[in-house]
Amino acid sequence: MDTRRYFIKKIAIVAAALCLPVSLPCENLAAYPDLKTHNPKRVLVLWYSQTGQTRRYAKLIGCILEGKGLTVDARDMQEFDKKLLPNYDLIVFGTPVFYYDTPSNVSEWLKTIPSIEGTPVAAFVSFGGPEGNQYNSSSHILKLLAGRGGVPVGRDTFRNVASYPTPKWNNPKQISGQHLPDAGTYDQVRRFTAEVMTRITRGETISVGYEVALREGLSLLPLVWMNKKAISKHTVDAKKCIGCQTCVRKCPTKAINPSKQTVDRDKCLACFGCLNNCPADAVVMEYRGERLYGFPEYLKRNKITIMEPPEFKTCELS
Ligand SMILES: Cc1cc2nc3c(=O)[nH]c(=O)nc-3n(C[C@H](O)[C@H](O)[C@H](O)COP(=O)(O)O)c2cc1C
Ligand code: SF4
Ligand code: SF4
Repeated sequence: MDTRRYFIKKIAIVAAALCLPVSLPCENLAAYPDLKTHNPKRVLVLWYSQTGQTRRYAKLIGCILEGKGLTVDARDMQEFDKKLLPNYDLIVFGTPVFYYDTPSNVSEWLKTIPSIEGTPVAAFVSFGGPEGNQYNSSSHILKLLAGRGGVPVGRDTFRNVASYPTPKWNNPKQISGQHLPDAGTYDQVRRFTAEVMTRITRGETISVGYEVALREGLSLLPLVWMNKKAISKHTVDAKKCIGCQTCVRKCPTKAINPSKQTVDRDKCLACFGCLNNCPADAVVMEYRGERLYGFPEYLKRNKITIMEPPEFKTCELS
């Protein structure tokens, strides 16, 4: 046993040094309760999404399951009453990777959900990458769901064009993901959905392990705090603002007040949801003195159209 532990530790250290990801097994695997069903009928696909990419995958999963005859609710976490969670036979949860981790508002939300004892749970993340601690971010969600009695039956990570605003969007990493999601990404989503259903039928679970790699250590840095220091201006242009309240709805911490043109910098998570969703270019953010522009404007300037999966032509989920 000691030899095994020593071996795992040694691999982890070497891999970290080489920046290669290595999966570490989870200690409390045996602690999962029994699955409450092997034949789910009512499914909840829940997402957190700022620029619609996680939502797109969530909707696709919902459409596939609905096509198989299941009753599917597909909902935005920010508008969902968590008290309803125990009503479902399967919960699939999706979130973007922000700052090398699950967004903090998502983790906080999941920490206070009611007991979902025995409910099969699956998690996925969307990410801009190429790096970004995606695997561990999905583990983090599964761990939180398992902490409330959920039984992990699936996880995956789907890459797409990054929606992280910088004054100069077109760096090589950004360009490398500009064409995503593509047909292969959607196949990956279909495979993930099929695997989740197969595991539930067979009563199989998955382990909630973590990967160790040097770059993943970045998630331990106070990245949000560091970014907020670099955001030299964050306000609302009263002349442009049309008062639509989109920024208020999207802001996870109610930090923005467009009628007063203020942002509570202490509450702000630097998620750029206000900038990335304002339809009137009225959210003013500067990064070290340089004006930022949001994701829709980035797509427009680069003539990028995000590919939609064919299922959406017939699926009625919103
Ligand atoms: C504030 C912020 C931080 C981000 N951090 C990461 C990251 O650490 N790693 C990564 O791969 N992508 C990162 N991204 C890119 C997002 O994960 C990616 O664009 C995601 O698909 C957005 O999902 P959404 O459209 O559902 O909001 C970040 C994006 C934002 C806005
Ligand atoms: S005010 Fe801050 S937390 Fe709120 S949406 Fe804008 S960037 Fe995100
Ligand atoms: S989203 Fe833009 S236009 Fe709408 S209220 Fe906020 S700042 Fe004003």
